[in-house]
Amino acid sequence: MEVKRAAISALLVLVAFGIVSLEEENPEFWRSQARQTLQSALDRKLNTNVAKNILFFLGDGMGITTYTAARILKGQLQNQTGEETVMTMDTFPHVGLAKTYSVDFQIADSAATATAYLCGVKTNLNVIGVNAAARNGICKTQKGNEVTSILKWAKDAGKSVGIVTTTRVQHATPATSYAHSASRKWYSDADVPAGAKKDGCTDISSQLLNNTDIDVIIGGGRKYMTPQYTKDPEYPADFSSRGKRRDGRNLIEEWKNMKREKVARYVWNKNDFDAVDPETTDYLMALFEPGDLRYEAERDPRMDPSIIETTEKAIRILQKNPKGFFLLVEGGRIDQAHHDGRAYMALHETVALDNAIAKGLELTKEQETLTIVMADHSHPFTLNGFPFRGQSILGKSPLWGSDFLPYTTLMYGNGPGHKIRNGTRPDIRNVNTSKCFPHRTL
Ligand SMILES: *[C@@H]1O[C@H](CO)[C@@H](O)[C@H](O)[C@H]1NC(C)=O
Ligand SMILES: *[C@@H]1O[C@H](CO)[C@@H](O)[C@H](O)[C@H]1NC(C)=O
Ligand SMILES: *[C@@H]1O[C@H](CO)[C@@H](O)[C@H](O)[C@H]1NC(C)=O
Ligand SMILES: *[C@@H]1O[C@H](CO)[C@@H](O)[C@H](O)[C@H]1NC(C)=O
Repeated sequence: MEVKRAAISALLVLVAFGIVSLEEENPEFWRSQARQTLQSALDRKLNTNVAKNILFFLGDGMGITTYTAARILKGQLQNQTGEETVMTMDTFPHVGLAKTYSVDFQIADSAATATAYLCGVKTNLNVIGVNAAARNGICKTQKGNEVTSILKWAKDAGKSVGIVTTTRVQHATPATSYAHSASRKWYSDADVPAGAKKDGCTDISSQLLNNTDIDVIIGGGRKYMTPQYTKDPEYPADFSSRGKRRDGRNLIEEWKNMKREKVARYVWNKNDFDAVDPETTDYLMALFEPGDLRYEAERDPRMDPSIIETTEKAIRILQKNPKGFFLLVEGGRIDQAHHDGRAYMALHETVALDNAIAKGLELTKEQETLTIVMADHSHPFTLNGFPFRGQSILGKSPLWGSDFLPYTTLMYGNGPGHKIRNGTRPDIRNVNTSKCFPHRTL
């Protein structure tokens, strides 16, 4: 066995040898890179201006391994080896890490984390825009425990505000910027239990209209805005895409009425979106799908714009305000792809978010704009094995497992794709997993 391992290692070294580029064999290549990195850090003047604008990019579920794998993919999409690629996110001068636990759980969800980074208050799992005295799903505990978000603070300060997401606009991350809800799942009134309604709780979609006056709203989620059985304009034959509301309200029409003194546009497709002139538009509501948007890799560019295009339109509308703006841009489906064990989708979503960040930097001035890129939590997503330099990030390790079968470079610790033995997960009910195991017995 040892001999076999040694032979495999030797083979790997030989193959890898052929990939290394000549300039990288020269120590000066690395030393000059290090000097430049150090010099640019030393040359950097601290920007002490008060930010007029805030551009806030949130990669939902975009942990460190997702970030690394997406960097490699971004380079490989440009026919580079990939590992050395500099993402737009990599160019930011300051970096930090945060503890992401929630008040009641070791591992947080997007609702608890959004309340922490948008409202400044750690809270419980599944609740949005309320403090930890509120309990998941219990309307009575919501009242009096509301906490407001930076989006509202910006509006109160006279700035224009917007949300751009790739999920439904009622989803946890964007919803926390404008709603208070004991449950992240109360998308429309049909999702709010009768008892909660009796206790005075309202759904997230109605709060989109009734709370902070938001200038730009872009994402998906139109089915939560229209009365039950209303046909979707894009998928009229699809029953599941039809309106969900039981209170008979059409929130899209109500929104247009509320804004009729201003230039307000509602659009649901790319043609109408492209026709929106940011120079003359005060308000924009764009809902491109009944629920979440399609993954970037599956997007129909004739029907739906990319996150790069939506980010650009939002900034161009918001930046007309001389007092500045706050914009939340969420790459929301990185997380959803990870939940399904779909690394391909998650990484393409991350690359698209990085391109949107580049667009944001291009359209704003660093002297007056604070741009932040964050993740809310990570996923059980790993990079492992010893793939060669430049090997497809979505490929397999050149080594085999002890079962002599190949394995992928990217793996999930749970969900679809986690370890299956004899058709089932290992039965660990009687195993004390806190013990120090001298051998792999699991
Ligand atoms: C990468 O290479 C492929 C195949 O040769 C080519 O079709 C594609 O246009 C290239 N992409 C870039 C960004 O250069
Ligand atoms: C929400 O706003 C609409 C329009 O201004 C108003 O008719 C309605 O009563 C409000 N609802 C709540 C729950 O505040
Ligand atoms: C799988 O099933 C076989 C045959 O029933 C059994 O001998 C073996 O121990 C099982 N392996 C695991 C890991 O449960
Ligand atoms: C599991 O193992 C740890 C470490 O040896 C020990 O402290 C703990 O009491 C064990 N738990 C149970 C339920 O046996």
